[in-house]
Parts: sequence; C-alpha cells; structure tokens
Amino acid sequence: MRPDEIYQLLRNLTSPVVAITSERDGKRNGMISDSAVRASIVPTIPRVSVYIHKFNYSHDMIFETGRFVMHLLGADQFELIHQLGFASGRTRDKLARIPHHVGRLGAPVLDECYAHLECEVINVMDTGSSTCFLGQVSEVGYGRANRPKSALMTAAYFRANMPAEWRPEYEAQLEAAQRFAEERSGEIKPVIWRGLGA
Ligand SMILES: Cc1cc2nc3c(=O)[nH]c(=O)nc-3n(C[C@H](O)[C@H](O)[C@H](O)COP(=O)(O)O)c2cc1C
Repeated sequence: MRPDEIYQLLRNLTSPVVAITSERDGKRNGMISDSAVRASIVPTIPRVSVYIHKFNYSHDMIFETGRFVMHLLGADQFELIHQLGFASGRTRDKLARIPHHVGRLGAPVLDECYAHLECEVINVMDTGSSTCFLGQVSEVGYGRANRPKSALMTAAYFRANMPAEWRPEYEAQLEAAQRFAEERSGEIKPVIWRGLGA
C-alpha cells in the first residue's frame, strides 16, 4: 500500500479537535490538537492522552509544568482553531483576546467550549518528534455556551469546512510538521516522568 494511502487510513483513528492550554511563569498559551483520546475505561479514574510536537511552544510549557487543560470544541469554533492552531505563542499572546479564566490547576480555562478537562501529567512517552502526555483529569466543567454534544468539532469536519483562504497555510504547516517528524521519528529516548523513577 502507498504511504499516502496508509496515512489516509490512519486518519480514521484521529480524535475530535481539542484546544490545549497551559501556563508557565505567568505566561498563558493555547494550541490545537487532533490527537487526543480517552486513556482509561474507569469512570473514577478519568485519563486522556495527547501527542504534542516538540517544536510547539506548548510542548515545553506542558513538559515543564506537568499540567494542561483540554477543551472539547463546538463544530462552529473555526475561529478559535485559527487563532490557536495556526501560529505559535512564542511570538504573540494568543489568549489576549480569547475569554478565559484561571482553572484550579493554574492553567487557563477557555470560557467558550463544549467542555474542559483540567489535567495533571502522570506519564509521558517520547516518539522522537513529539511527546505523548498521559493526563489524569482532576477537574471538569462545561463551557459558557450551551453547545449540543452532537455538534462537536472533528478533524474531518474541520478539514472539509475550514474557510478556503486558510487551507494553503494549514497544508503548509502540516507539511512542515511532517518533515520535522520524518527527521526526528528515529530519535526515541527513554523518559522517566518525575516521581516514577525507582
Ligand atoms: C486541526 C489541527 C490539529 C492539530 N493537531 C496537532 C497535534 O495533534 N499535535 C501538535 O503538536 N500540534 C497540532 N496542531 C498544530 C498546533 O496547534 C500548532 O502548531 C500551534 O501553532 C502550536 O502553538 P504553540 O507553538 O503556541 O504551542 C494542530 C493544528 C490544527 C489546526
């Protein structure tokens, strides 16, 4: 099977589109991900996982602080995805004009979303180009707008319906991320998360 055919098959395994926020030394940031999944079947032990590329500013903020907030988004939240997912927080304050408040763990919680999950990192896995963060959910809440659960943003819906003028930038960034991942995927290192060492 051709690699691009395999990639299209793998795309069936992607998650809804989520916004991931973090805070370090008073600096707040947010990014977009479509690699978040439920990572526990135990209702009393809610866990999620998410892959974050090492070139993203959020990566180091989350790795260093061990906390993040994951937000499920409504299918109408295209503008938020554009604001958080197309440019890095290294060069601008992406949350400056996005309504939010500080959550229990100290990271920003977006007011407009379907629901938010405040997470503490309990383990990580290095992929070479990214880190898979395993998060223990410690606080949960619904967003301000009363969005129906049936209308959550998915990766396929975003790709099919984003404004046409965003598409060249989206595709250029995806290609750049793929090149980075291709170069770094062989450099997997063992990482022992804080507190888990023998
Ligand atoms: C639909 C969509 C899905 C994305 N999924 C991921 C992802 O799963 N992991 C990741 O590291 N970046 C992902 N990105 C890219 C980041 O959101 C983007 O690089 C962002 O600018 C990072 O911001 P930061 O540098 O402020 O952390 C995605 C972007 C979009 C638009």
